[in-house]
Amino acid sequence: NPGSGGDSDKPAAGAEYDLVAEGTLTVCSDIPYAPFEFEGGDNGTGYTGFDIDLLDAIAKKLDLKLAVQDTGFDALQSGATLAAGTCDIGASAMTITDERKANIDFADPYYDSLQSLLVRTDSGIEGIDGLDGKKVGVQQGTTGESYATENAKGAELVQFPSDGELWPAIQAGQIDAILQDLPVNIEHEKADETYKVVETYNTDEQYGWAFAKGEKVELREAVNKALGELRDSGEYDKIYDSYFSA
Ligand code: ARG
Repeated sequence: NPGSGGDSDKPAAGAEYDLVAEGTLTVCSDIPYAPFEFEGGDNGTGYTGFDIDLLDAIAKKLDLKLAVQDTGFDALQSGATLAAGTCDIGASAMTITDERKANIDFADPYYDSLQSLLVRTDSGIEGIDGLDGKKVGVQQGTTGESYATENAKGAELVQFPSDGELWPAIQAGQIDAILQDLPVNIEHEKADETYKVVETYNTDEQYGWAFAKGEKVELREAVNKALGELRDSGEYDKIYDSYFSA
């Protein structure tokens, strides 16, 4: 109705995005995975981290409220959780891979990553070639699992549903090493000096936020636009430095 211009004529925020919950950007994430997603912060969701803070800034730009659901990673990376309509977006330090693209549409890359091997400082293990007969913990469904499967052939791979079980397992001596994304292993190394990253593997991974294949096209475009604005304004760098400054 031309000329009225009143607020009451505006559709609900995000009406064009086909959201799971009105006015809300509902995010699925496998937590804990510090520094990308973990408990804490003050944004009202109960969670914080590089993924969460970026998406909180993006939600604000889209005039939406952020909500976070802690879900398993394996079904998230397969596309099943997204296809089921549990969330609008998957944000879980997820690497963009061709295999995943069969079931997932990714937003633009937002972080470059690589793989790494974490061991006890006194283990004597110096790298992937020293893993024969050793137990190597990986998170199920991750690129770390694939890397270990292909490159640590003499090792016994032990799968865990999340880093929330993987990290206690090495501390309890149930596994000899953890092969996973470098920033997460660095976090463990920082938290406990009896562990160290002994090797990194340049797998050229890029993280992207995930959408159910063929769905939420407008939302994905809006998220990409907002991410570009955060990069241009320096807000991306501010958030990045708060987690990854040397
Ligand atoms: N980047 C790796 C992958 O995509 C691991 C991601 C695990 N993320 C998490 N929140 N647990 O396979």
